[in-house]
Amino acid sequence: MSETFLGTPVMIIDRAPAPGRSERGTFCTDLPPAADPDLVARAAAARQALDDRVVILGHHYQKQEVIQFADARGDSYKLARYAAETGAPNVIFLGVHFMAESADILTDDGVRVILPDLAAGCSMADMADIAQVEEAWSVLQSVVPGQVTPITYMNSSAAIKALTGREGGAICTSSNAAGALRWAIAQRPKVLFLPDQHLVGMGISLDDCVVWDPHRDSGGLTDDQIANATMILWKGHCSVHQRFQPEMVDAVRERVPGVRVIVHPECRYEVVQKADEIGSTERIIRAVSDSPPGSKWAVGTELNLVTRLGIENPDKTVVFLDRTVCFCATMNRIDLPHLVWAMENLLAGQVVNEISVDPETKHWARLALERMLQIT
Ligand code: 13P
Ligand code: SF4
Repeated sequence: MSETFLGTPVMIIDRAPAPGRSERGTFCTDLPPAADPDLVARAAAARQALDDRVVILGHHYQKQEVIQFADARGDSYKLARYAAETGAPNVIFLGVHFMAESADILTDDGVRVILPDLAAGCSMADMADIAQVEEAWSVLQSVVPGQVTPITYMNSSAAIKALTGREGGAICTSSNAAGALRWAIAQRPKVLFLPDQHLVGMGISLDDCVVWDPHRDSGGLTDDQIANATMILWKGHCSVHQRFQPEMVDAVRERVPGVRVIVHPECRYEVVQKADEIGSTERIIRAVSDSPPGSKWAVGTELNLVTRLGIENPDKTVVFLDRTVCFCATMNRIDLPHLVWAMENLLAGQVVNEISVDPETKHWARLALERMLQIT
């Protein structure tokens, strides 16, 4: 369907919701231009006028221009907890799609969750689709029936979270993966971990792991390899954290004598092995903030967070582990024009870009998320 806007033909997008991932996209013809000098004032006015009709949750990777309007900031775990506890009728989520979906799963049915730009996805979450995971699950059940617990990283679709809940598994985040794995191993002898192959690099021997490649028959594994493995890791990764290389750790140690290197567990195994500390975004922030004045840190995670850490810790040296720019492009899609657009529409009584998971998917996905909240 096409219409005109300011004399220019535009397409009206009629989105068909995918199973387990329903959303109502609104074509934002009235998006304020990024150069609008009044944007900050418009955002502040809309925020104030909305009062307790909305709570704004923001992930640490968000840009300063929007995170300044967040009522609460956190890593994906903390934000899931905030969402589960919020009493507000509307949640605006400054983060990426899987986080907003998790917020919708954890909130009551009447709560509307808004993602200001629906294009804010996650390349890692997109590396596992539900059809591939169903296929993998059915192969594992035929080779090692009843022996596998699925543990799914928060960075995944609602449909995959639902499969996890239905099959007796749990969700985990970067801050509680080790605890979730201990819990899983106590249930059944093997774990299917998806969709990040790196996250379990903390404390598990590589000899116990095999990698499931969703683009090959039977994941590219023989029945014997599956039968002998404890951990079956999905072949997925974060395109942002994958950029950090082990040589960068050596280089920064030379460049900044006395530096401590702290990295996110999504970094590749060789980088994690060389780092002094590993932690979720929340843990990285705590480690730097709690360190004594004069401490030196090299941080291997997304650049918005690292830049903010440097500004908020002027008595410490905080450097980025990579020497080139490394933002999460999809996180960066949430900008001030989209936030203003979402808030002003809400004020006008219109919910735009609502993330709404269907009831059946929500039921099972919630079970998997609640298991995470109970076990960690
Ligand atoms: P956290 O769980 O540390 O918030 O990480 C989420 C994420 O997407 C990191 O890339
Ligand atoms: Fe996804 Fe990586 Fe961006 Fe996190 S940093 S949202 S894992 S692409």
